Amino acid sequence: MIALDQVSKRFPDGTLALDEITLEVPRGSVFGIIGRSGAGKSTLLRLINGLERPSAGRVQVDGTALETARELEVRALRRRVGMIFQSFGLLANRTVAGNVALPLELAGMSRPERAARVAALLDRVGLGDKADSYPARLSGGQRQRVGIARALATRPDILLCDEATSALDPETTRAVLDLLGALNRELGLTIVLITHEMSVVRAVCDRVAVLDRGRVVESGPVDTVFGGEAGHAATLALVGTGA
Ligand SMILES: Nc1ncnc2c1ncn2[C@@H]1O[C@H](COP(=O)(O)OP(=O)(O)OP(=O)(O)O)[C@@H](O)[C@H]1O
Ligand SMILES: [Mg+2]
Repeated sequence: MIALDQVSKRFPDGTLALDEITLEVPRGSVFGIIGRSGAGKSTLLRLINGLERPSAGRVQVDGTALETARELEVRALRRRVGMIFQSFGLLANRTVAGNVALPLELAGMSRPERAARVAALLDRVGLGDKADSYPARLSGGQRQRVGIARALATRPDILLCDEATSALDPETTRAVLDLLGALNRELGLTIVLITHEMSVVRAVCDRVAVLDRGRVVESGPVDTVFGGEAGHAATLALVGTGA
């Protein structure tokens, strides 16, 4: 579904954020990317959804080669890739339903179709009764559910999650992760989940890549990477802190 081949990203100021990353995310998997702050996790995600272009290497997402794609192709691909953020990114002056409807408005969907789709999405994330509430009146977990509903509005095949649970308490985190797991199974969504928390990876991911200073230092099935005897120092540091 997603393949990165020798991908590097150097920012104009000279920062080498990603250094020859090679990894493959199988269709239908829940793929974790874990690493310390500054390791390059968010940059990697922005390359996958076409917000950044690689300085070198190849990024292939669902059949589109992003390093050579035209702007129009990148935009078409972006509709098939949902994204949720740590900070929720909701519009404060729009209701819950209004936030979820936004990508459908941008896609030109008619009002009646939109209303039906928004209602179905809110039901799916357990917020059917909050359609007319404003984000300020919601808990963190509820806000993240709105973010998930909005990301799913255009029926993406891929969902990218950047630290989607790091602002939430453990119980709420668990509920959001359970929802992501269910969406993966029911819709066959491919999920790429970025986190600095081991427990998040263990809870939902089937594969994981450990990023350290812009390089993938380990990757594979979660049990193998976290269960093995030896391991890269960066992995051990994440395991050791119980983060
Ligand atoms: N637009 C930019 N210009 C220059 N350097 C950048 C830019 N964006 C990110 N960087 C640098 O690239 C490196 C990786 O940043 P990135 O945001 O990908 O890290 P991260 O793993 O997501 O960290 P965190 O866990 O704190 O979110 C950092 O050194 C950062 O300072
Ligand atoms: Mg980040």
